[in-house]
Amino acid sequence: MSLLIKGGRVVTAADDYVADVYVDDERISLIGLDLEVNADRVIDATGKYVLPGCVDPHTHLDMPFGGTVTIDDVESGQISAAFGGTTCHVDFIIQPQGETFASALATWRAKANGKQVIDMGYHMAVTDLEHGGSLEELATLPDQGITSYKLFMAYKGALMVDDLTLFRTMQVASQTGALVMVHAENGDVIDQLVREALEAGNTEPLYHALTRPPEAEGEATNRAIQLARLASAPLYVVHVTCKQAVEPIALARDRGWDVWGETCTQYFFNSLDDIAKPNFEGAKYVYSPPVRDSSNWEVLWNAVRTDALSVISTDHCAFLWDGQKTLGKDDFSKIPNGGPGLEDRLKMVHEFGVRAGRLSLNRMVELLATNPAKLFGLYPRKGTVAVGSDADLVVFDPEKEVTISASAHHSKSDYSLYEGTKVTGAPEVVLLRGHVLVENDELIASPGIGQFVKRARFGEELRPAAETAHA
Ligand code: URP
Ligand code: ZN
Ligand code: ZN
Repeated sequence: MSLLIKGGRVVTAADDYVADVYVDDERISLIGLDLEVNADRVIDATGKYVLPGCVDPHTHLDMPFGGTVTIDDVESGQISAAFGGTTCHVDFIIQPQGETFASALATWRAKANGKQVIDMGYHMAVTDLEHGGSLEELATLPDQGITSYKLFMAYKGALMVDDLTLFRTMQVASQTGALVMVHAENGDVIDQLVREALEAGNTEPLYHALTRPPEAEGEATNRAIQLARLASAPLYVVHVTCKQAVEPIALARDRGWDVWGETCTQYFFNSLDDIAKPNFEGAKYVYSPPVRDSSNWEVLWNAVRTDALSVISTDHCAFLWDGQKTLGKDDFSKIPNGGPGLEDRLKMVHEFGVRAGRLSLNRMVELLATNPAKLFGLYPRKGTVAVGSDADLVVFDPEKEVTISASAHHSKSDYSLYEGTKVTGAPEVVLLRGHVLVENDELIASPGIGQFVKRARFGEELRPAAETAHA
């Protein structure tokens, strides 16, 4: 099947020009002006942007968490992603305590089997190196295309690891070419503050934010940076929310250290005003690290503009408000942490980043597609529009007006973090390896088309086909 996308404005992290893009056998095989080629299908992209499919390096689909399971499985989560212009994501396998990494990987692969709509890879979240998982087994994961290890410095009594586990994992990563990812919050301090709040009778969702102060994020971020430096491991700090965490990352990067940071769409838009909403509505905004004072919004925009932070992800970890968030009706510490957003990232960043004059189009592509692809061993197969790359493409209509709402999104979550927000600009056609996934707000492709991608080691490029295993 061949496809010609005619006359669109091709935007990559580096370029911006009008051209035709010819796709053959799942890849981009020619880019040029007024191409004279025969194609099975022609898409007229005049007046539209042709962007690389976005890459989301931070999602939680079908994941047991907080006494329940995230509401989006691989199928609903990936359909939602496709509608939002995301064609590849990297999801977290959580090692159940006492289990081997091989067993955890088998469980997560089974959850995806036959359901995939977009391409995907996995990070391995290390929870237990004493029983089940071992350092030796951890070292084998990059050979299987799992080239990032994740550690939680918070969620005491559940996913949190101690500094020794963190440091030992970093030492393995420095040998195996894996990237270490951290959820950086001081879990011990938070645990104590949560106890004190509950003892004082403070059970409302707002106390989720008040017991996880920005200093707890700043301290853990700095600790992880120093430990990674000591272990000579590359470090990626996920979901950075505030000045206290941006500053140590910016300093490390100024020094030329191998440190990168990510923030997520919601941290530019949600604030303490949201989590303080009455009648338990605030529970919709319970995620970790928590919403911050809105003074942090401009700090984050500035950080993504200056490359102190290099990626915007979604941390899509969706629950129902009615039925799952309500587990914490009388105790904020029992509200499952996480929110939806896989579908909204490109539209929101385009509206409030590009259209608002905070980011260039090139920088938006870099933050949503190119940098995540480069950092997580997917580039140049993913994350750019280039000859030889997978034909993962978004024909984006910059004039289309959309109102973001739970009634229109494809996640199973019963609420949106951006309910009622009006944006101009949305995907019109979304292609995965040349196959039309979504066109004019309709799902065209069937589940099963997505593949597991064996990612390259940190700092290495992913070259075509041979390294891809079919799910
Ligand atoms: O609240 C959140 N972010 N839930 C997902 C798990 C995590 O910490 O990323
Ligand atoms: Zn986290
Ligand atoms: Zn997360």
